Amino acid sequence: AGEEEIALVHFLRYKNYNFPAGMTTAEYIDSLQSFEIRDSDIFLVTYLKSGTIWTQQIIISICELAGGLNEYPNNMEQMPWLEFCEGQDYSKRPSPRLFSSHLIPSFLPSGLKEKKIIYVMRNPKDNIVSYFHFSRKCSTLDSPNSFEQFLDEYLTGNGSSWFDHVREWHLNRDQYNILILTYEEMILDLKGAVKKICTFLGKGLSEAAIIQVAEKSKFENMKKNPKANYEFIPQDKIQGNFMRKGQIGDWKNFFTAEQSQRVDRLLQEKLGDLSLRFIWE
Ligand code: A3P
Repeated sequence: AGEEEIALVHFLRYKNYNFPAGMTTAEYIDSLQSFEIRDSDIFLVTYLKSGTIWTQQIIISICELAGGLNEYPNNMEQMPWLEFCEGQDYSKRPSPRLFSSHLIPSFLPSGLKEKKIIYVMRNPKDNIVSYFHFSRKCSTLDSPNSFEQFLDEYLTGNGSSWFDHVREWHLNRDQYNILILTYEEMILDLKGAVKKICTFLGKGLSEAAIIQVAEKSKFENMKKNPKANYEFIPQDKIQGNFMRKGQIGDWKNFFTAEQSQRVDRLLQEKLGDLSLRFIWE
């Protein structure tokens, strides 16, 4: 595919990467190279279905309590995806600006180097299960016929896979000021994760405020919060359920032993040379 722009049904394939069709353009993606970054910008980067909206809620709650955050109707408008322009001009946004992104380093503004990025990753097996359920509901993604078929496409996907994302970010991590967290450590110790993010962002919150952020970010509390649960997205756009189960290990209900071994082999094959230690292993 190379440089050319190919329109797939639900994806725009550009520079060997899949972008959700209708939410961005090749020109806009290219224009991001010169997008001006401010010192006060905060970036959250994830592979989709890895805990993006959860971490958004944590970051937003921290910044709210630390003071100085501008008001927006919901978390998506407060912390929009940089790559989905939808007629916005983010260069006119008042500081502090919070951004989310699913992009790999090569597409992000060059000015982001050395700037603060929070990267969240999730066990690929749970990521697959979450993505599978989301795809079945979401009108802007291809609906898989079966888990088997979905898994196959996920594992053979070229350039836009979980493996590529994790690999690119780990290979390039030294160029950024990056805090890498996992969905699993957030589940096991939410308060600890909130503290880590506070320290990284240089926000000195009291113990009581940290507990308050963790409470607001718990699955059951977020699910009830109309600013944070993503039910505000019009049903004809994404009929998905962003807050499905919120657990670790759900993959065991879907994978056969053979499918699980296939993922293990790919992890070794694609990321083995990076000697990463995954918390879920
Ligand atoms: P499941 O489908 O496994 O439930 P993203 O925001 O990147 O799209 O990721 C969505 C996943 O994060 C979903 O996983 C969703 O339930 C989970 N999630 C969202 N908020 C959460 C929270 N407060 N605690 C735990 N998991 C959460």
